[in-house]
Amino acid sequence: MRVIVASNYDEMSEQAAALFAELVAENPTATVLPATGNTPMGMYRALAQRAGRGELDASRLRVFQLDEYCGLGQDDYRSLFGWTQRSFIEPLGISAANVTRLPGDAANPEAACASYEQKVIESGGIDIAILGLGPNGHLGFNEPPSDRSDPTRLISLTPESIVSNGPYWGGEDRVPRQAVTAGMTVILAAKTILLVVSGKSKRSILKETLQGPTTPNVPSSFLQQAANVTVLADQDAYRF
Ligand code: F6R
Repeated sequence: MRVIVASNYDEMSEQAAALFAELVAENPTATVLPATGNTPMGMYRALAQRAGRGELDASRLRVFQLDEYCGLGQDDYRSLFGWTQRSFIEPLGISAANVTRLPGDAANPEAACASYEQKVIESGGIDIAILGLGPNGHLGFNEPPSDRSDPTRLISLTPESIVSNGPYWGGEDRVPRQAVTAGMTVILAAKTILLVVSGKSKRSILKETLQGPTTPNVPSSFLQQAANVTVLADQDAYRF
């Protein structure tokens, strides 16, 4: 595991974008698993700027959606799919045909998760996962406890995630209680993992992620066992 510490959020975002751009130059049709959440947004803006300047052609990437709240259609503004589209897919000019949704509105979520996993396998697995770090160590929506062998599946949000997602939904009572998430198996098997972490509030969970015992109670701790992980953190997050 490689750890790169940047002096602040903007620098971290630029460094993450530079690393990602190098990977895309090497493999322009890579499969990508991009997180939403606040942390990677600076990186995505930096990528969009590079694409706008003609320094990056990410248009042929194949995108797999990382996670989704249950009960929301793809056009719902609050869906994580919508967020992925606005922040990553559209600014980078990736065509809809190259995007695989993880549908939170499927009539049969279990079947939808199985079909998603099949598509990941058929595409040759994930080349690049861009992850944020949940305050409770979740990756995607792999809430604690999640083991390294957990597949793509339907999950219930922990009380902690309901609280942390409250502001996004205009109140905790409005936060959906269930979600679907790419499994730990899919994430941990990614050929390259970029984990972006920012801010004081992530300091203790980052320490547990990097230095704690590997345990389902901190799903991100399994990154210690993954093949090619680069953690990009700002100094506020990496100070221990
Ligand atoms: C969202 C996702 C989540 C976030 C995590 C951190 O697609 O995968 O695991 O990455 O909750 O969110 P922020 O970056 O908002 O702190």
